[in-house]
Amino acid sequence: MKISIIVGTRPEIIKMSPIIRECIGLNVDFFILHSGQHYSFNMDRVFFEQLELPQSKYNLNVGSGSHAEQTSKILIGIEKVLLKESPNVILVEGDTNTVLAGALAASKLHIKIGHVEAGLRSYDRTMPEEINRILTDHCSDYLFAPTEKSKQILLTENIPDAKIFVTGNTVVDSVFQNLKLANKKLNIFDKLELTKKEYFLVTIHRQENVDNSTRFNNILKGLKMLLKEYDIPVIYPLHPRARNKMQEYNLDSAGIKIIEPLDYLGFLQLEKNARIILTDSGGVQEEACILGIPCVTLRDNTERPETIDVGANILAGTLPEKIVNSVAMMYNNNKIWNNPFGDGNSGKKIVRILRKQL
Ligand code: UD1
Ligand code: UDP
Repeated sequence: MKISIIVGTRPEIIKMSPIIRECIGLNVDFFILHSGQHYSFNMDRVFFEQLELPQSKYNLNVGSGSHAEQTSKILIGIEKVLLKESPNVILVEGDTNTVLAGALAASKLHIKIGHVEAGLRSYDRTMPEEINRILTDHCSDYLFAPTEKSKQILLTENIPDAKIFVTGNTVVDSVFQNLKLANKKLNIFDKLELTKKEYFLVTIHRQENVDNSTRFNNILKGLKMLLKEYDIPVIYPLHPRARNKMQEYNLDSAGIKIIEPLDYLGFLQLEKNARIILTDSGGVQEEACILGIPCVTLRDNTERPETIDVGANILAGTLPEKIVNSVAMMYNNNKIWNNPFGDGNSGKKIVRILRKQL
């Protein structure tokens, strides 16, 4: 069995790492194919170094561009590699343009496709991620659904039961494998002058929020209202898309502690000790839930409803008053919930299933 593990962006590198480790441990024949969708050191290389992942065998270096430009460059590049390497199966994870291009390239070459994190739906087709998820699920051969709920979604879309495997989400493996390391790491709280449990952690980068000046400005207004009301820092590691848009729209972020995107271990530490996490990220909603930290999602919908069902997360949208009210609801949330995304062995399960099937 030869596996092509395809990655392109920060969350794909982090969430594929348990599968890569499992392949190494079991001596499975695999190679990493990186699209180069993310390329800045702190969005890409830092994770390979910190998670001690092997170099990607191929990097297509596609960089940034419009959706069509980026997806098509990845598609062309991946096809060439797959023709040369003839893997039995490709693995993609999540919902990025790299995921869609990988799935499309493989399907036309009749190479089997495994989709990790299958069956997530926001039911909002204006989001590029939603289109990528639906199309990838529908051309995949092995659909690794994180929960029963995501499996049911796939069944209602007439995907055959035999193709679906409920494995949990590899994000749990990543958190468990790295949290101890994170705790040992140089103290980020001194460096950032933060006190544990006395700050709000923010990540906002999704296209539907930051590419819309009104929505992005409303979010920043809401964050500034929190600063006044609670008098604890709001820390925001800024994704490059958000940085560009903040500059382009000339938005006021005065008072908010803006820093560069963090490495994974540093970010995990900040998540684990935040009072509340405010985010529009998919992976961060999951990690907050796994780590037991209340989350306020600055979106109108989520493809991670399990986090809401267990009481770990709440949807706030982007209106400032609604953000403040949602934070108030979660601020003294002492509820303890069970993480719905698995036991931290998803990577193992996925590789075991592939070895059995191929
Ligand atoms: C992509 C994914 C999104 C995911 C996010 C993870 C798609 C459609 N979107 O969004 O689902 O949540 O990755 O972080 O695939 N840039 C840099 N350096 C980089 C990468 C990007 O400066 O290493 C800047 C460029 O100006 C670029 C912009 O960020 O135009 C957006 O990058 P892009 O990869 O198009 O989308 P993301 O917003 O990162
Ligand atoms: N993350 C990180 N540093 C940061 C912000 C996020 O390492 O400064 C990690 C986070 O722990 C999670 C992943 O990046 O594992 C989430 O990626 P992102 O929010 O970019 O994308 P999404 O999950 O929304 O697709």
